[in-house]
Amino acid sequence: MKIANFSILLLAFFIFPITFAQLRVGFYDNSCPNAETIVQNLVSDEFESDPTITAALLRMHFHDCFVGGCDGSILLNSTDSERFVGPNLSVRGFELIDEIKAELEAQCPSNVSCADIMALATRDSVALAGGPSYNIPTGRRDGLRTNANGVFNLIGPTASVAAFLSFFGDKDMNTLDAVALLGAHTVGVGSCDLFQDRLVNFNGTGLPDPSMDSDLVANLTTICEASENPSTGLDRSTPLTFDNAFFGQIRVRRGVLQLDQRLATDEATSSVVAQYAADNDLFKRQFAIAMVKMGAVDVFTGEDGEIRTNCWAFNNN
Ligand code: HEM
Ligand SMILES: *[C@@H]1O[C@H](CO)[C@@H](O)[C@H](O)[C@H]1NC(C)=O
Ligand SMILES: *[C@@H]1O[C@H](CO)[C@@H](O)[C@H](O)[C@H]1NC(C)=O
Ligand SMILES: *[C@@H]1O[C@H](CO)[C@@H](O)[C@H](O)[C@H]1NC(C)=O
Ligand SMILES: *[C@@H]1O[C@H](CO)[C@@H](O)[C@H](O)[C@H]1NC(C)=O
Ligand SMILES: *[C@@H]1O[C@H](CO)[C@@H](O)[C@H](O)[C@H]1NC(C)=O
Repeated sequence: MKIANFSILLLAFFIFPITFAQLRVGFYDNSCPNAETIVQNLVSDEFESDPTITAALLRMHFHDCFVGGCDGSILLNSTDSERFVGPNLSVRGFELIDEIKAELEAQCPSNVSCADIMALATRDSVALAGGPSYNIPTGRRDGLRTNANGVFNLIGPTASVAAFLSFFGDKDMNTLDAVALLGAHTVGVGSCDLFQDRLVNFNGTGLPDPSMDSDLVANLTTICEASENPSTGLDRSTPLTFDNAFFGQIRVRRGVLQLDQRLATDEATSSVVAQYAADNDLFKRQFAIAMVKMGAVDVFTGEDGEIRTNCWAFNNN
């Protein structure tokens, strides 16, 4: 029994990438000293014309990290990529990553990974939207496979708070981290089909979800009837600003997604929600901490993986 366990441990050691102490702030200081500035300038240009890029990058980075690690595999555009699977939902922002990659290849060929570009660009876009500025360790390598089926392991918007906490707990993130990360819904939109049932026929009752403010029910009903494939802000107060208003909104029953609303009342998360709602700086600090943790999930470092030359394809060698 002991021997069997030991070999499982050894096996695990070789199969799974080592995820700690390998990333470091300033990884490109010597090999590509302008890397972070180049990323920041291009993100900043994009943000000026399209401030929704913050939401796009946050969601892309989250999906990448939780499907086979933060390895840039969501960027691959082969037909079997995780990018093209149902629950990819509205992931977008690929063009900006490709544009940044092209500029970095021109300046320091084959040095800066697509996985790092995504982490850095996301960080910069958050700051531009009013969120925290923070250092992010780099040194990620790009993965050598894509895991389309893994997309189905992401939990959905009707998940329970317990499932939500264990989803993040499995990656060593605690309640403070998990709630802060869901606070990313302070920017961005959700499609009506993901919460339509809350407006008209919640849980088969033929009535709206009683946990949703009735003015919001009326507001969302109008918005969702107004166009085809409608979507609308997840933070009903300041959907383009990275702030704690999302937490204030869910505390007054103005959450759009069911899981978002549940955080405000579930006894495991309600006090953290109240703290973030009361203290924007606390939320932003904890968000930065949690993003550094999320950005280190199952990363490839050292000699593992590769540095892609195009983010949309594996290198052919
Ligand atoms: C694990 C729990 C989570 C669930 C169930 C969830 C669910 C969702 C859903 C259903 C949408 C709407 C998508 C659509 O309409 O196509 C959405 C959007 C979004 N999510 Fe999450 N999410 C979770 C965690 C996160 C995390 C950890 C982040 C980032 C740190 C994040 C960032 C975003 C952003 C920024 C949007 C808006 C995207 C846009 O406007 O393009 N989410 N999320
Ligand atoms: C992937 O994207 C590149 C660059 O946009 C494009 O040239 C290529 O045709 C795409 N491949 C597939 C399979 O969509
Ligand atoms: C998401 O997957 C669907 C197929 O299920 C695909 O049609 C769509 O283009 C994908 N979205 C993106 C942004 O690639
Ligand atoms: C990039 O990486 C190569 C080897 O992978 C190295 O020789 C080179 O000095 C690095 N730096 C730049 C700026 O290209
Ligand atoms: C949905 O309805 C079932 C019984 O019809 C009930 O057991 C369950 O708790 C309800 N769920 C919610 C979220 O209200
Ligand atoms: C819905 O509420 C938002 C503010 O949260 C407001 O800007 C918008 O005009 C409202 N739309 C409708 C149709 O009531």
